[in-house]
Amino acid sequence: MRLSEDHVRLLSRERDLPDEELRAMLETDALDAPLFAEADRVRRENYGDEVYIRGLIEFTNYCKNNCYYCGIRRGNGNAERYRLSKEDILSCCAEGYELGFRTFVLQGGEDPYFTDERVCDIVSAIRRAHPDCAITLSIGEKEKESYQAYFDAGANRYLLRHETASEEHYRLLHPESMSLQHRKDCLFMLKEIGYQVGSGFMVGSPYQTMDNLLADLRFLQALSPDMIGIGPYIPHNETPFAGQPAGSWQLTLRLIAVLRLMFPYALIPSTTALGTIHPLGRELGLKAGANVVMPNLSPVSVRKLYDLYENKICTGEEAAQCRGCLEARVASAGYRVVTAVGNVRR
Ligand code: 5AD
Ligand code: FES
Repeated sequence: MRLSEDHVRLLSRERDLPDEELRAMLETDALDAPLFAEADRVRRENYGDEVYIRGLIEFTNYCKNNCYYCGIRRGNGNAERYRLSKEDILSCCAEGYELGFRTFVLQGGEDPYFTDERVCDIVSAIRRAHPDCAITLSIGEKEKESYQAYFDAGANRYLLRHETASEEHYRLLHPESMSLQHRKDCLFMLKEIGYQVGSGFMVGSPYQTMDNLLADLRFLQALSPDMIGIGPYIPHNETPFAGQPAGSWQLTLRLIAVLRLMFPYALIPSTTALGTIHPLGRELGLKAGANVVMPNLSPVSVRKLYDLYENKICTGEEAAQCRGCLEARVASAGYRVVTAVGNVRR
C-alpha cells in the first residue's frame, strides 16, 4: 500500500486508521517527518510545552513471576534481591517532594512480602505526608478487593502494561501460570474502581509481529487508558531471551507518534528504556509526542539492582541529579518540566 501525508492528516482527524494503513505507516520511515510534526502539533494543542515528571520509586525487586523477558524474574538466581522499608520509601517521597515531584510511582515486582496490609500502610502514610500528591502503584496483578483497598488507602493511579494483547504472543513471553485474560481483566477492574490507569507494551519483544502491534493499538482503544507507556524491548543476560535482539528506537518513536494521534489526551512517557537504547532517546520521544518523564527517586544503593534489562541508564545518579539532568534534556528538546499533578483528561 502506498501512503501519503494525507494518511497522517486522516489519522489525526479520525484518531484512527484501518489496519492496512496503520500497518503501512508503521512499516515505513517515509512519513516520519510529517507524522512526528503532526504528533507534536497535537501534543502542543492539548498540553502546550508542558512535560510532567513522575518520581519513580522501585521498592522491591522480588517477583513471584517468571516472564521470559524480565531481569528480575523469579528464575534469575543471580539477581541480588532487595526491599525498601516503609521509612526508606517515605524518605524517597520527602526528598522527591523537595525537588518538586507531586506524583510518586511505587513500582515493584509481584512480591508476596508486600501484603495488602503492608501496601495500604505505606500508601496511607504517603497520603498523610503528601495530601497534595498523586500516588501511583505499579505492582502487578491483584484481586479486585486488593485494588479497592489500595484505592481506599489513598492510591489514585495504577500502571499495568498489558505487554502484548495477542494471546498467541503472550504465550511466547510468559509461562503457563500467567494469563493475558487475567491481566486484561485487572485493567478493567482498576478503571471501574476509579483509578487513572496506565497500560502499554514493549516494542520489539521476541516474536512480536506487526499484527501483534496492531492488536496492541486496538486493545488500547478498547481500554482507553489515561496513560500509555511503551519502550523498546532490551535483552537481559540472565533470562531465557538472552541474546535476542533489542527492539528498534525508530519503531518506538513512530508508535509514540501514532499513539499521540490516536489518543490526543493521553499521558505518554518518554521511557527509560528508550533512553537506554539511544543516548537521546527520551528527547526524541518527547519530540514524537510524549509528554511525561519518570526520573528515578530510588536510593542509589539499590538502583543497579532493579535490573529489568541490560545497561539501564540513571543507575548512578542521585535523585537531584536525575531531576536536573532531565530538566535540561526536556528543555533541550524544546519543552518545559512542570511540577503540577497534571491529571486532567481533556
Ligand atoms: N526490556 C524492556 N522492557 C522491559 N520490561 C520488563 N522487562 C523488560 C525488558 N527486558 C518492562 C515491562 C514492564 C515494565 C515495568 O518494564 O513492560 O511492564
Ligand atoms: Fe516480574 Fe514479570 S518477572 S512481573
